Amino acid sequence: MSDEGPELEAQLTEQDYFRPPTDFVGQANVTDPDIYERFDENYPEAFEEYAELLDWDERWDQVLDDSNPPFYEWFVGGELNASYNCIDRHLDERKNQAAFIWEGTDADERETITYQDLYNRVNEMAAVLRGVGVEEDDVVTCHLPMLPALPVTMLSCARIGAPHSEVFAGFSAQALADRIDDADSDVVVTVDGYYRRGEFLNHKEKCDEALEQAESDVDTVLLWSRHDELHEDVEISDDDPYVLVDDLLHEHERERVEPVSRDAEDPLFLMYTSGTTGQPKGCQHRTGGYLSYVTATSKYVLDIKPEDTYWCAADIGWITGHSYIVYGPLSLGTTSVMYEDTPDHPHKGRIWEMAERYDVDIFHTSPTAVRMFMKWGEEYVEDYDFDFRHMTTVGEPIQPEAWLWYYKYIGDEDAVIVDTWWQTETGGHLITNLPALADMKPGSAGKPCPGVQPAIYGDDGEPLEAASGKAGNLVIEKPWPGMLQTVYGNDERFIDEYWRDFSDTDSDDAEDWVYKAGDGAVHGQDGYFRILGRLDDVMNVAGHRLGTMELESAVSEVQDVAEAAVAAREDAEKGEVPDVYVVLREGIEASDEVRDRIITSVEDEIGKFARPANIIFCDDLPKTRSGKIMRRLLENISNDEDLGDTTTLRDPSVAEQIREQVHGD
Ligand code: WT7
Repeated sequence: MSDEGPELEAQLTEQDYFRPPTDFVGQANVTDPDIYERFDENYPEAFEEYAELLDWDERWDQVLDDSNPPFYEWFVGGELNASYNCIDRHLDERKNQAAFIWEGTDADERETITYQDLYNRVNEMAAVLRGVGVEEDDVVTCHLPMLPALPVTMLSCARIGAPHSEVFAGFSAQALADRIDDADSDVVVTVDGYYRRGEFLNHKEKCDEALEQAESDVDTVLLWSRHDELHEDVEISDDDPYVLVDDLLHEHERERVEPVSRDAEDPLFLMYTSGTTGQPKGCQHRTGGYLSYVTATSKYVLDIKPEDTYWCAADIGWITGHSYIVYGPLSLGTTSVMYEDTPDHPHKGRIWEMAERYDVDIFHTSPTAVRMFMKWGEEYVEDYDFDFRHMTTVGEPIQPEAWLWYYKYIGDEDAVIVDTWWQTETGGHLITNLPALADMKPGSAGKPCPGVQPAIYGDDGEPLEAASGKAGNLVIEKPWPGMLQTVYGNDERFIDEYWRDFSDTDSDDAEDWVYKAGDGAVHGQDGYFRILGRLDDVMNVAGHRLGTMELESAVSEVQDVAEAAVAAREDAEKGEVPDVYVVLREGIEASDEVRDRIITSVEDEIGKFARPANIIFCDDLPKTRSGKIMRRLLENISNDEDLGDTTTLRDPSVAEQIREQVHGD
């Protein structure tokens, strides 16, 4: 970091500020313009305001127990149920308001699910889960795409106190098997098929393969069906563990399942994410702190009101969808739009067509999507009549150019934009301006959320001066309610990945424990944080996190590969894409066939979304004298940057050769 710092800073050009429209009155500033001071002066008690947005069966008696860092406990002694908070408590006031308006691949296929419908479906599905033996604290692994069945299943798990572990539908069979094994799930929930660009995919076959690959014995697979009839290639025989959800729902028709009172610290769900090793980590999120935090940030950052129509165009299979499609918005009782297929299907105006049809007020997407819309051109937008009050970006740094396009063509220069920085681990937003409480600055996430204390540390572990304008490691100095509890089943890894680098791990004083985000950032003189990207061996492809080690191990699965290293290459659309540098075994010639096998292996081990952009066959990889692969140099080569100092290499000519091979000079 230290040698890269000045270089990164040089790339930053100061941006102008944009004033939020004067008629925008966000809920944060309506309720209290002193929100920041209140949280600063009254930490951690101020977070009670967040918890008070929920209905509790038992009120907490302590806001934060930090006596055993980093295993913090929030709202200690409190009891609540997440499904009750997202559904039941809204029935008195708005049982027949839409919770979700869902559209299938075909725009004629629409479903409006009211809060009453959701209540009925979740109760029945909760009865189904109980009926197949799911008990409180059993982890249920789900592998569901963007169908109503997904939030219904998650909330049904929450109702009976069974943590869910949803695996993004685009993940491969092997990735699903790994997650089933890590969570030791007896019950898996999937669907026969879903649509991608209009094509009806057989999704069950991934689960079939996963069951073969998994070590755990899965007792039951609950199979939802996309249509009345199953996908034509899907069959179920008597001796396999599949059971049709529709049949069971029928058996449990009109049943009611009391929401189970969960301790605030009981886990609500697991979400696996890539880290710096080959094995994904199960980020474990608690019930009380998490739900309080996502509800409050949905209200104050996303400015969601129950009467709004809100659309977060992410996939529920990632954390964004968990926090800001399912738990936060439903807990506030709003109406959300959900869409099954891709934004370019059947035409590149589909998103805006839907925005017009449902008169969406609040829109939420990623910089990758914005860059894609920008590439397609504003002509796809201009045909439609919609008017967003508020827009969000999330997942990667947004280039000022893309921000300005979003502001102008999607927001019509009168919507507020929030650039929200957070992570799977943080549960909810940590750095973003509260809408209308601070000016917008393209490319900067902005100020910390109330009560959140980010800082920039040097590689030596020392904090840089606040607002120094220098690049460094982004850390969070104080705990917050949405933070992960641990890495599922692996407290040691939790400490190693997030705390060890910047904490005094021998201390039991919470002040000595500092959370490492893994990102580089600059804290500007104006107090705004600008996120530069990952500093560890994790890349961000189209807003999806991918671990270098996971990719490398998938590539190394191919027999002919002796050694592989992955480097992140900057990409105008996807942010970053993986380049794979491969050394083949003695006697093996580079060929299209080997290349295909490498691609197939990545798709099989992780998923199609992780496909390498380039595969570069080389004779050797650049290594230090101790034999460590220097990925930084490969990254320089991929991005056509100067190689810098190569004198510490075992053989400096190796990097130079690869550079010539790639760039031809
Ligand atoms: C990583 C977390 C948070 C939900 C989606 C991604 C990057 C996230 C921003 C932003 C710049 C961002 C960071 C972070 N990131 N939001 N607004 N500006 N970078 O969740 O898969 O856990 O990835 O995404 O690098 O560490 P995730």
